[in-house]
Amino acid sequence: MTAADPGHLDALLRAFRAAFPDDADVTTDPAALEPYGRDESDMGVFPPQALIRAVSTAQVSKALALSAALRVPVTPVGARSGKSGGSLPVHGGVSLSLERMNRVLEVNAADLLVVVQPGVVTAQVDALAAAHGLFYPPDPNSAGYCTIGGNVAENAGGPRALKYGVTRDYVLGLEWVLPTGEVLRVGRRTSKGVAGYDLVSLFVGSEGTLGVATEVTLKLIPRPRAVRTALVPFRDVAQAAEAITAVLTFGLWPRTLELLDDVALEAIAGRGLPVPAGAGAVVIAEADGAHDDAALAELLALVERCAAAGSLEAVVAQDEAQRDRLWSVRREVSPALRALAGRKVSEDVVVPRSKVPQAIARFKAAGARAGLLVATYGHAGDGNLHTNVLYHDPRDWPRVEALLAELMAITVELQGTITGEHGVGLAKKKYLSLEQSPGVMDLQRRLKVFFDPSVALNPGKLWG
Ligand code: LAC
Ligand code: ZN
Repeated sequence: MTAADPGHLDALLRAFRAAFPDDADVTTDPAALEPYGRDESDMGVFPPQALIRAVSTAQVSKALALSAALRVPVTPVGARSGKSGGSLPVHGGVSLSLERMNRVLEVNAADLLVVVQPGVVTAQVDALAAAHGLFYPPDPNSAGYCTIGGNVAENAGGPRALKYGVTRDYVLGLEWVLPTGEVLRVGRRTSKGVAGYDLVSLFVGSEGTLGVATEVTLKLIPRPRAVRTALVPFRDVAQAAEAITAVLTFGLWPRTLELLDDVALEAIAGRGLPVPAGAGAVVIAEADGAHDDAALAELLALVERCAAAGSLEAVVAQDEAQRDRLWSVRREVSPALRALAGRKVSEDVVVPRSKVPQAIARFKAAGARAGLLVATYGHAGDGNLHTNVLYHDPRDWPRVEALLAELMAITVELQGTITGEHGVGLAKKKYLSLEQSPGVMDLQRRLKVFFDPSVALNPGKLWG
């Protein structure tokens, strides 16, 4: 689908306003549209031709039904914190924002669930849970501003996924608007349930191509009452990766095992962070438990395994301030890498855990051959690596792109996957066929057309 026919777009907006004379929030003002053309993917700026900020399921349904009937592209958008360009309206048309649908509909501590609208900020869900001794673990490192709708669309992960899984593991049920405008309720409110096909799992992570969530029922779990954090330095990534395997196979289950490689460490050097000299890699490990003794015992056992695997001396945070300081090592990496070169592309590949050292070494070598700096950090406990390619001059983009293609090919060769948390969106479209067979891609294309016969919802993404 190409950009909307102006007559059809006008007809859509007129019909939408007529259907909701009192509360249609519609604009075509270029200044208001401009921010909706951006996200955190660095994929470029693609402003929509119109913006509808929905306030109800009925409005979402109407907007989708009209766009399907008039063949006007429509792209759902949340907090614009996406990393793969999934919410960029690359074919113009309408951006359908869910930001105003931000009400908490139910907090049910006895049933360990909350029901929220898609525009609720992720951290708010965990804060509501915490007030009842409960926990909503997924945090894609942007919990303070990303929203549940976007997390559902992308099946967001994050550092705690190691122990607690990703967004999909917490979505029990959805009110879901199909691309035709039909409103369905799928899933359940119980912790178990196997009736019918698992449509919730299909819709979660469908990257805004199979419909829009207008209500999300999220599972909560008991909140671990204590958390302990350590920074464990190693001489190199290979040693760190071996230690990670040693920890997990010993039967320890930390909630995070974040890794930074030597290039990432160089980027943050000189910032007064607690990284000892001689470290060529660090692991930030966090253990939790029902009480502090349990969390600390788990963490110290982990530190001991790491020492046996050759780590340098670990730093164990003794209070909340120290814990925050250890995490600042991880937080500073992304801005520091950007400061180093000006521009960067952040990947989110995953390889089998045993292949982490090989992947990092091969990515680095490919970067060296291309004359580009490659840094890797991320959720190594999951084998999920944020490999960053740094560059300075936009004219270097063809070289960067060629290198990215090589990184994807290496990942697939190592039996990995091209995206572990950010989604295919716009950024990974051309690499999907490296990983998935023509038959699998074709099946998914047929599913897309089955759900969205007009192919008006979020065109230009995945394979569209
Ligand atoms: C992170 C997000 C960007 O791990 O995936 O920081
Ligand atoms: Zn991540």
